[in-house]
Amino acid sequence: MVEKPRFLVAGNWKMNGLRDESQALARQLLDLIASDGAPGCDMLVCPPAILIGPVGATVRDTSILLGAQDCHPNGAGAHTGDISAPMIADSGCAYVIVGHSERRADHGEDDALVRAKAEAALEAGLIPIICVGETLAERDAGRAVEVVLGQLDGSLPGAASAANTVLAYEPVWAIGTGRTPTGDDIAQVHDALRGGLAGRISEPDAMRILYGGSVKPDNAAEILAIENVNGALVGGASLKADDFWGICQSCA
Ligand code: PGA
Repeated sequence: MVEKPRFLVAGNWKMNGLRDESQALARQLLDLIASDGAPGCDMLVCPPAILIGPVGATVRDTSILLGAQDCHPNGAGAHTGDISAPMIADSGCAYVIVGHSERRADHGEDDALVRAKAEAALEAGLIPIICVGETLAERDAGRAVEVVLGQLDGSLPGAASAANTVLAYEPVWAIGTGRTPTGDDIAQVHDALRGGLAGRISEPDAMRILYGGSVKPDNAAEILAIENVNGALVGGASLKADDFWGICQSCA
C-alpha cells in the first residue's frame, strides 16, 4: 500500500496582477505561514510569465514553490512570444501547468500538443501539471469520465511517473463560475483517473490528482477529504491571500 501523496495546493494567477501587487500577495502568504505555521500541503504559485522573476525573488529560499502557466513544446527556436520549459526552469520554477482548458479553448491546444508540452517540461526537469476536464455538454451527455480518460490517454507522456508529474481534473463548466460538481461526481472522476493511471505508471496511487474549479475556503475541506483528491488547482481564490491560505489550511 503506497502512502497517500502529500497535498499540493496550486494558485493559478492566470492573466492577473501587476508587479507590486503580485509581490505583495506572495509576501502576505509568507507572513501567514510565519504567523500560523506551515500548512499540511505543498504551496505553489503560478504567476503570469512576466512576473515569475519578481515573484520568484520574493519567494526564493522559502517553502512557497514557483510555477508557470504554460510552456512551448520546443526548447528554443523561432517562436515569437513563446516561452520554453528550459527558460521556465532557469527562472526558478519547479512546476508548469499544461493543457489548462483556457489554453485548450483560447489557443486550440489538443491532447497531442499538451503531451508534447508535458514532455518538454519533463526534459527540462519541471513537473508538469496536466489538466483534463469535460465541458458542460459532455457532462450532460453522461460522457465526463470517457472524456477525461481520453484526455489522460492523449496527454500523459510515456516518461510520466508519480514523482515527476501531477494531474488536475478541472471540469470546464466549474472554472470561474462558482459552480462545483457534487462530491460524488468529483470522486467518480478522480477514481476513474486513478484507475486510468494503473497500467500506465508504476505507482498510480502515488501520483497527485488535483481538483480545480471554483475551489474556495468554504468548500475546500469537503473537496480535499475525497479519497483520490490530492490537492487543488485554484484560480480566483488564489488572488486573495486569506482565501488561498484558507484553502491550504483545509488540507488535513
Ligand atoms: P477557479 O479557476 O478557481 O477560478 O474556478 C480554476 C482554474 O482555472 O485553475
